[in-house]
Amino acid sequence: MNVNNFRLKLGGKEYIPIVIGGMGVNISTSELALSAERLGGIGHISDAEVMFVCDQLFGTSYVADKRQMYASNVNNRDKSSVHFDLEQLAEAQKRFVSHTISQKTGNGAIFMNCMEKLTMNNSAATLKVRMEAAMEAGIDGITLAAGLHLRSLDLISEHERFRDVKLGIVISSVRALSIFLKRAMRLQRPPDYIVVEGPLAGGHLGFGPDDWQSQSLQSIVAETLAFLKKENLDIPIIPAGGIFTGTDAVEYLQAGAAAVQVATRFTIARESGLPDEVKQHYINASPEDVEVNLSSPTGYPMRMLKQSPTLYYSRKPNCEGLGYLLDNNGQCSYIDDYYEALESRNPAEGRFVVKNHTCLCTGMARYDCWTCGHTVSRLKETVNRLPDGSWQLPSAEDIFMDYLLSENHSIRKPEIKKQG
Ligand SMILES: Cc1cc2nc3c(=O)[nH]c(=O)nc-3n(C[C@H](O)[C@H](O)[C@H](O)COP(=O)(O)O)c2cc1C
Repeated sequence: MNVNNFRLKLGGKEYIPIVIGGMGVNISTSELALSAERLGGIGHISDAEVMFVCDQLFGTSYVADKRQMYASNVNNRDKSSVHFDLEQLAEAQKRFVSHTISQKTGNGAIFMNCMEKLTMNNSAATLKVRMEAAMEAGIDGITLAAGLHLRSLDLISEHERFRDVKLGIVISSVRALSIFLKRAMRLQRPPDYIVVEGPLAGGHLGFGPDDWQSQSLQSIVAETLAFLKKENLDIPIIPAGGIFTGTDAVEYLQAGAAAVQVATRFTIARESGLPDEVKQHYINASPEDVEVNLSSPTGYPMRMLKQSPTLYYSRKPNCEGLGYLLDNNGQCSYIDDYYEALESRNPAEGRFVVKNHTCLCTGMARYDCWTCGHTVSRLKETVNRLPDGSWQLPSAEDIFMDYLLSENHSIRKPEIKKQG
């Protein structure tokens, strides 16, 4: 029995039940998502810091222009005047989505991960623009993640694609699901799929700082399936977090899941956006290198490698250029921590480190925040070591096919190929 014995049915179509999860900022690149799409599965791109991503990919200058516009504010702690130009935001989103969608060649689908915690100093308006622009550019589905707002669906309820685009949510408890469903049912628009993300996932965790350790994905999946059955709802559920082998996936599929969402194994794919040297850090990681901490200004726990450069940051906040985490009052907890550290530093010591929170906008943009799932230390089981001591990076297809075809918890390493 392997994953290929199962199919995900979604809106009259069938997919290979493997979903590559969204990984911002541009770790789940178009190329990574398109590999899944080409092989009949589902790949996510992420709209985290989409204007920055467009600058990198297409040579636009959204970040520099925004920074220029608010140049007089860079030394001001108060960022409430710093706003995104909604037209430019829509333009960037459309550009990025069209770029990806226009390269589809397979029978799979491309979804976009929209994190609602990217509040961008105007949470409702910016989220609406991001979702609508993605739909207009032809995205197949939108997965609402990190900080589910009850009114997100209302924001796009008038859009012509509201009932045709696939809409999914990421939840970590039945409680969050039942609250969201009440609102969705009022619009007669239940989600098309539900990603159930457990405590072993990468990125932010949807649990409290103290309760994530006592949770298990298996039990949240079982509770979610029981809840949906009780409510007479037939919505595919997609477990995520710690699914490392094809056999792990089969166990969830046999238990009633419709597909699985995976990410950590794909962080080291050649198509992943992480720089190659960071991929080597991921593969070299030991279990002791991984921690869940509260350094993210979002307030959610986040899993990362202890060696993440962001944990030693003293960078000046760049909310004028980036500013994706500014809340609706223009605040971010990193700004306060930064100025506190700056004002209390000992000038004789020179460099200082900002305690408590980190600058995630800059950290993610520079690939300095090495977020990963709990299984990161097992990546070395999946790759070959080269004579120079480095690890050979697999292709996304190698990893996808291993999930699809492997049995008995075996992992098929890609063949050793000559580099260069
Ligand atoms: C490097 C990395 C970045 C991630 N970034 C995001 C993100 O931007 N938004 C999100 O909703 N989930 C994010 N996640 C979570 C994944 O989409 C996925 O649900 C989860 O990591 C699956 O578990 P696994 O990594 O154990 O396979 C990220 C995960 C990783 C490993």
